[in-house]
Amino acid sequence: MRKPEPTVELISTGRFLPDCVVTNDDLAKRVDTSDEWIRTRTGIRERRVAPDDMTAAFMGAEAAKVAMQRAGVEPGEVDIVILSTATPDRWLPSTACDAQALLGCTNAFAFDVMAACTGFLYALTVAEGYLMAGRAEVVLVIASEKMSSITNWEDRTTCVLFGDGAGATVLRKANGAGRGILSSVMRSDGNLADLLNRPGGGAAEPMSQAILESGRHLIQMQGREIFKHAVRSMAEACDIALKRAGLTVDDVDLLVPHQANIRIIEATAKYAGLPLDKVFVNVDRYGNMSSASVPVGLDEAQEQGLIGPGSNILTVAFGAGLTWGAMALRW
Ligand code: ACO
Repeated sequence: MRKPEPTVELISTGRFLPDCVVTNDDLAKRVDTSDEWIRTRTGIRERRVAPDDMTAAFMGAEAAKVAMQRAGVEPGEVDIVILSTATPDRWLPSTACDAQALLGCTNAFAFDVMAACTGFLYALTVAEGYLMAGRAEVVLVIASEKMSSITNWEDRTTCVLFGDGAGATVLRKANGAGRGILSSVMRSDGNLADLLNRPGGGAAEPMSQAILESGRHLIQMQGREIFKHAVRSMAEACDIALKRAGLTVDDVDLLVPHQANIRIIEATAKYAGLPLDKVFVNVDRYGNMSSASVPVGLDEAQEQGLIGPGSNILTVAFGAGLTWGAMALRW
């Protein structure tokens, strides 16, 4: 099979993590849990939590500033700002517009993508479409999540899992040097929406005192069911993305998976046929940052020298919707 040429290039990456570290022992003071339970069931040791007055737009803009500076891109050169978030700062306008204002990208148009933990990968494919259609030259893709703002801090089955943070990348059309997106596969199944959602507070169940008291505006999840779907879907998506890229697992230098749970990551790698020394992990330090997990992972993997020019990278994610997807990249 002829190997596909990369379509668009991730020129640079950036990340932002709030300073405040919340350990498992800190959580054990609030709910009936323990460091031992959280570490053995999830692999998480600690997570970052943003202060009340720090917005998702701010975190995203800080990550984007790093990526833009590394790419040598001025705010006025950005044509589109696409921001993935499951935690928009407000219902109107989009968080992307707020981030655009903070960045001074006055020549761009900006909009949000909402696909939960898979949102960064979805946003990359949207950017790819605009760039390949010749409708843009520079696209900024940001993923920013303030999961602490939608977490039920009294529910031990979910509050131990999530963390706050943001990642970003600058994209341009590939210039023929072989770097960029090689293939992707994006999927969703809305029939499984009730496994992970925030039922209250939207148009279907507008915010009311009763919703606030019931906590239906916060994350609800059927963890065990999600676990099963996550492993199966992500392993299958990895296979498809590799086939479309004309690669085998042996060609992969690093898998950068969504960081929900170390057991999910390990099971996915096993099903996909990848040894664990080729799998990037930071869930121990940040927990599940929803769609920010993958770009923060890419940024850290590069900083740690795990990937460099010419590396073949597989990224894969899974989240509410249910949504899932995988992408093969040449760095
Ligand atoms: N501390 C102590 N005990 C706990 C805790 C806790 N924090 N949470 C649950 N338990 C208890 C349960 O109550 C249960 O007790 P019981 O047997 O007396 O009823 C027991 O531990 C086992 O619970 P399970 O839910 O079966 O535990 P499991 O091994 O499945 O682990 C977990 C739970 C970590 C949530 C796991 O199912 C998981 O990671 N699922 C995937 C979740 C996920 O990734 N979600 C995010 C998707 S991405 C997105 O879009 C945001």
